Amino acid sequence: MTERPKILVVYYTQTGQLRRIIDTIVEPLQDKATIVYEEIKPVQPFTFPWEKQVFFETMPETVLGKPRPIEPLKVNPDEHFDLVILAYQPWFLSPSQPTAAFLQSETAKRLLKDKPVVTIMGCRNMWVNAQEKVKGYLKGMGAKLVGNIVLVDTSPNLVALLTVLRWQFKGQKEATKWLPAAGVQEKDIIASSRFAAPLAQALETRQWDALHPELLTLKAVELKPNLILLEQRGISAFGFWAKFISAKGGPGAPERKGRLTMYRILLLVGIFVLSPIDKISSIIKLTFRKNKLQEDVKYFKGIHLR
Ligand SMILES: Cc1cc2nc3c(=O)[nH]c(=O)nc-3n(C[C@H](O)[C@H](O)[C@H](O)COP(=O)(O)O)c2cc1C
Repeated sequence: MTERPKILVVYYTQTGQLRRIIDTIVEPLQDKATIVYEEIKPVQPFTFPWEKQVFFETMPETVLGKPRPIEPLKVNPDEHFDLVILAYQPWFLSPSQPTAAFLQSETAKRLLKDKPVVTIMGCRNMWVNAQEKVKGYLKGMGAKLVGNIVLVDTSPNLVALLTVLRWQFKGQKEATKWLPAAGVQEKDIIASSRFAAPLAQALETRQWDALHPELLTLKAVELKPNLILLEQRGISAFGFWAKFISAKGGPGAPERKGRLTMYRILLLVGIFVLSPIDKISSIIKLTFRKNKLQEDVKYFKGIHLR
């Protein structure tokens, strides 16, 4: 008889949404495996709801992968796990700072080396670039990404943007008169328990190759081509502003205030004024670069790093 498998779940969540998602997915595995939870905790927590200035100030270091330090994990880094689940969220199209801090740590290197890893993401709808970075971190430490599950807010892009900002700045997740509830839809969280069966099967046999294809047939990762185009635009803009702002100093430095204000104004103009224009250019690209975009969709839904 094979030994009872052990799963380590490493996660960070500010609002608890991601913990709800994790619990729903792994609940059916409770009687089949021993599950150890590790919550990543920044030494100086990111307060929720966000103060606007702090929210925008967080962009440069997030995009540049220079996160705030985290507390040491409780788990022994040399303990063996049959599967590691890394549950995280993108911030500014990059892995959230606590996630990046974990992935850069010595503990992560020891814990994840040669281990199968499944990533679970709970986000608005722009996660592609963050996952590429996570694929890079995992590859760098010799871990094997064997599956990815992405839960997004399926409202139209601008609606999801308005509700996520209301949520982040006011703490209000619930629907208001004109706008729906923020975040991943409750029905989608409940339905995510369907991913437990292929996870259980792979765990039992310790065979991981069929896992991601099976997750994909269960629609674990859905991706709209126009969001890839929007992300590509966004990440080059963030990259520019991140370097430009941080050249004046680190978080809180008074010298970078002027540049931060410029970026805040241009970001809002970019989103609300340029987005509709962007949409037209996207339609053109979607028509003329259809094959290339379809290839991209297939690639980003996958677990390999090109
Ligand atoms: C600073 C910040 C930046 C964010 N940037 C993105 C993003 O680039 N793409 C996205 O889909 N969601 C983004 N979100 C939403 C988060 O990914 C996440 O869904 C939400 O914050 C709730 O997560 P949590 O409670 O698990 O921490 C952002 C949230 C924050 C706080």
